Amino acid sequence: MKHFFLLHVVVLALFGSLCEGKVMMEYIGATGVPVTFDAVPIDGDIDFNFILSFAIDADSSGKAQNGIFSPYWITSLTPGSVAAIKEEHPNVKVLASLSGWSLGDKVLAWYNPKDPQKWISNAFSSLQSIVTTYHLDGIDIDYEKFPKHGNNTFAYCIGELLTLLKNQSVITVTSIAPYHLTTQPYIDLYNAYSDVIDYVNYQFYTDKVRTAKGYLEAFKLRTTQFDLEKVLPSYEINGRGIQGDAFFDALNLLEVSGFHVNGVMIFSADAGSTNGYYYEKKSQQFLLNSTRL
Ligand SMILES: *[C@@H]1O[C@H](CO)[C@@H](O)[C@H](O)[C@H]1NC(C)=O
Ligand SMILES: *[C@@H]1O[C@H](CO)[C@@H](O)[C@H](O)[C@H]1NC(C)=O
Ligand SMILES: *[C@@H]1O[C@H](CO)[C@@H](O)[C@H](O)[C@H]1NC(C)=O
Repeated sequence: MKHFFLLHVVVLALFGSLCEGKVMMEYIGATGVPVTFDAVPIDGDIDFNFILSFAIDADSSGKAQNGIFSPYWITSLTPGSVAAIKEEHPNVKVLASLSGWSLGDKVLAWYNPKDPQKWISNAFSSLQSIVTTYHLDGIDIDYEKFPKHGNNTFAYCIGELLTLLKNQSVITVTSIAPYHLTTQPYIDLYNAYSDVIDYVNYQFYTDKVRTAKGYLEAFKLRTTQFDLEKVLPSYEINGRGIQGDAFFDALNLLEVSGFHVNGVMIFSADAGSTNGYYYEKKSQQFLLNSTRL
């Protein structure tokens, strides 16, 4: 009886992991193109996450506000349009990404707040307000520049912020977006707070590998720095790194090399709108195909 029960649990667990939802992460709204959610193809069997780009701790001139974030994504992505896309597709979640590279021509950077507790509490309440207004589900972290000297408060402030947002049930999903020059501060964050981090949207296109074989090597390296099952392969439309169908050759090579491709991150829907969302469609098809294997 006991053995039968155990076997039952194992079979259920295996079945559960095989059917586990594949995830799409797509940045949207960063480049000034008046993009909309409803133009993007969304498969009902994919856990589809839009990432609004960006919420920024700065006033409109780029001056830091001690943790008080404001939305700077394209204004066509309204609170009403978030509600509408989630109503139409129950599998859609919407996140806001923090910071990004620049606001206008002002390059943004993490700064060490004088009073980390104050920064965390300002960030918590301003993001809680944005999450409520826009009906959001989560937060992505995309700081791309860090001070060279001094104490790095990034891991502590961001880790505590995500912990608090999740603990207070403000959000349910989080991701982080390191790139090749910023892996160390993100490793520090991840090592201390991996419990509250769901996905690693590592920006593989910054590694500038152009072949499937190169992509496999980059994936091997990055999945040793962060947990294997949380790292998503990524693609930049009209961008850097691997381009065109070679990306799907890379995903196939990852699978045949024993990596389980749990999802795909794409930057961004703004660019996808110029080619009929080819990469969004084909990525979701790939994920569904690999679920059935
Ligand atoms: C930097 O860290 C050291 C050691 O933890 C601490 O004593 C010091 O007060 C910190 N400085 C600032 C400016 O936070
Ligand atoms: C929040 O933290 C408290 C205290 O550690 C814990 O009991 C509770 O389960 C947490 N809630 C969530 C939603 O994580
Ligand atoms: C998915 O599978 C179908 C049927 O085998 C195949 O024609 C298609 O090329 C596959 N698509 C991707 C993106 O792997």
